[in-house]
Amino acid sequence: MRILVYTGKGGVGKTSVAAASAVRCAALGYRTVVVSTDLAHSLADSLDVALGPDPSQVAPNLWAQETDIYNNLQTHWGDVQHWLNAVLRWSGEVDRLVADELTVLPGMDELANLLWINRHRESGNYDVIVVDAAPTGETLRLLSFPDVMRWWMQRIFPIQRRAMGLARPLISSFVDIPLPTEKVYDSVERLFTQLDALHAMLVDPRLTSIRLVLNPEKMVISEAERTSTYFHLFGYPMDLVIANRILPDEVTDPYFAAWKDTQARYMRRVEEGFAPVPIKTSPLFEDEVVGLDALRRMAAAVYGDDDPARVFFEGRAQVLESLPDGGYRLTIPLPFATHGDVTLRQTGDELFVHVGAHRRHIILPRALIGLTAARAKLDEASANLAIFFEPTRS
Ligand SMILES: Nc1ncnc2c1ncn2[C@@H]1O[C@H](COP(=O)(O)OP(=O)(O)OP(=O)(O)O)[C@@H](O)[C@H]1O
Ligand SMILES: [Mg+2]
Repeated sequence: MRILVYTGKGGVGKTSVAAASAVRCAALGYRTVVVSTDLAHSLADSLDVALGPDPSQVAPNLWAQETDIYNNLQTHWGDVQHWLNAVLRWSGEVDRLVADELTVLPGMDELANLLWINRHRESGNYDVIVVDAAPTGETLRLLSFPDVMRWWMQRIFPIQRRAMGLARPLISSFVDIPLPTEKVYDSVERLFTQLDALHAMLVDPRLTSIRLVLNPEKMVISEAERTSTYFHLFGYPMDLVIANRILPDEVTDPYFAAWKDTQARYMRRVEEGFAPVPIKTSPLFEDEVVGLDALRRMAAAVYGDDDPARVFFEGRAQVLESLPDGGYRLTIPLPFATHGDVTLRQTGDELFVHVGAHRRHIILPRALIGLTAARAKLDEASANLAIFFEPTRS
């Protein structure tokens, strides 16, 4: 089984590319389900069919669904939310309406949607699960969630469950702060178990491929690079970048001349920023991409004869390790023949690396901002470049 997650900044074409990939997978004979986890669904518009919260068949081998966030949230988080709500209102500071908002952690609603992946995996009904994910920032937080949430919950639930069971009668008689019931504990435990399973699936490169959709435009690329840095940091296997809405060669109208230059320039930047992860492209079509025929055309443009369910890149394009001296080592593979001098130039959270005639561009994770890229070491045998970051001396 394979899980293909398409993500990227708002409006770049995630839904279209996800739907096109699903249409192709189904045509190849995989039993495929495409799941929209975005709060603002547009999968039905893209496929040009009506969709419900459960998978419905839209073509041979192809099922699609637009998940129902409120229902999912209630199922997975309802009991916990009730308790948190009671605690907040007990404090007297927060009214009911606000408490309802506060007891939903950021990203929680979309996370509940992603748990559909677990269900589909367990059902054994599908060979490929295609996920049309919410815009980048949200998805990212979501994907790193199991660990973050465990940390968060361990601080909210003050005492271990066993101890709590014994202490409850005592505590209740002294203070009237609402205590979590067995049901709440059960809920949290169930949710943790499911999130752990989801997390384990999403970081397994044989199972999951995360794909970034972007347009060759300055702001889109910067955000996509940032996203990719965090995917690497959190260990999510990104195996493909899809650059969408490229002006095709047959467009020669002078009106678009500047656009074409800009796109060509940014495509070079995409290569510098994402190598060795492969890049596929899709042209700007003459009309919006709606319906199965249009999606088939898009799939042909992106994948040619390739199978979207295959793994396009293995390994990590960046590995960050902390060192005992308080510094960090960032290792990047250099797929091209490498020799020559290495120069580093750093501005804010950006690092430009020149190796001989080649350039790489890296957006640094937050941990490295304020540190200095002090030196780099090229290991020709493994074709890796190690960059050492040290605390900035003032
Ligand atoms: N290559 C393309 N050529 C022409 N139209 C396109 C192309 N890619 C996407 N579109 C159109 O652009 C619009 C937005 O695309 P889409 O919904 O796939 O983006 P999205 O990234 O999912 O957006 P959102 O962030 O809102 O979910 C749609 O009308 C779609 O048909
Ligand atoms: Mg979309």
